[in-house]
Amino acid sequence: MRRLALRGLRTYLTRGAEQTRGHDVPDPNPAALAFLRTRRSRPAKTLGLPVPDEATLADLLTLAARSPDHGKLEPWRFVVLTKPALARIAGLVAARGAALGLPPDRIDKGASQFVTGNLAVAVVCSPKPHATIPPIEQHLSAGAVCLALLNAALASGWGANWLSGWPSHDPWVCTEGLGLGPGEFVAGIIHIGTETCAPPERPRPDVAALTTWMRA
Ligand SMILES: Cc1cc2nc3c(=O)[nH]c(=O)nc-3n(C[C@H](O)[C@H](O)[C@H](O)COP(=O)(O)O)c2cc1C
Repeated sequence: MRRLALRGLRTYLTRGAEQTRGHDVPDPNPAALAFLRTRRSRPAKTLGLPVPDEATLADLLTLAARSPDHGKLEPWRFVVLTKPALARIAGLVAARGAALGLPPDRIDKGASQFVTGNLAVAVVCSPKPHATIPPIEQHLSAGAVCLALLNAALASGWGANWLSGWPSHDPWVCTEGLGLGPGEFVAGIIHIGTETCAPPERPRPDVAALTTWMRA
């Protein structure tokens, strides 16, 4: 055991030195890189049945929870929205939109993901009071969980889409519809289902134009 640990340490130190000299590259994972190069969300309205069953979704949530989290505060949680829950929330959104005096098209747009969705996960940011880890870092961790869940679903062959919309930011819908508590907010609503048609690629950023190299 001790010899193994020593060998591990020697490999780690040697590797580090080689990388510093620029002669070596860490072990790549071609499948993971191919996924990252080609990953693409599937529009929620095109997702059909079947959706992941409970065990499958639990696994996807486990993958998503394996996300960077400063201080291990776990400043997020999941609310799984089944078809009946989505239908219930659609009704609340329509009522709320009318009470707010929103135009019908805005109400319909806000309600549509709940009307057409078959399964979605609300990733709820649930920041924890902490002396040195500010809320912003906890919010970013929740965003990381959203992307991780999206990617876990896509990598598993499901179609998935990260949505928001006005209802996801509405305090009343969040409390009555999603059961959020004080200080919590929706980081994202991740729809998961079966892809019915592959979307075309969308324009991707000019990364060089967004990148600044500081060489001194
Ligand atoms: C925080 C957040 C909220 C979003 N909300 C919506 C939304 O409400 N409606 C929508 O059409 N797209 C929304 N999008 C964008 C979709 O997720 C879009 O499909 C995505 O940008 C596709 O990117 P991808 O193919 O790289 O995964 C949102 C994205 C983020 C990050």
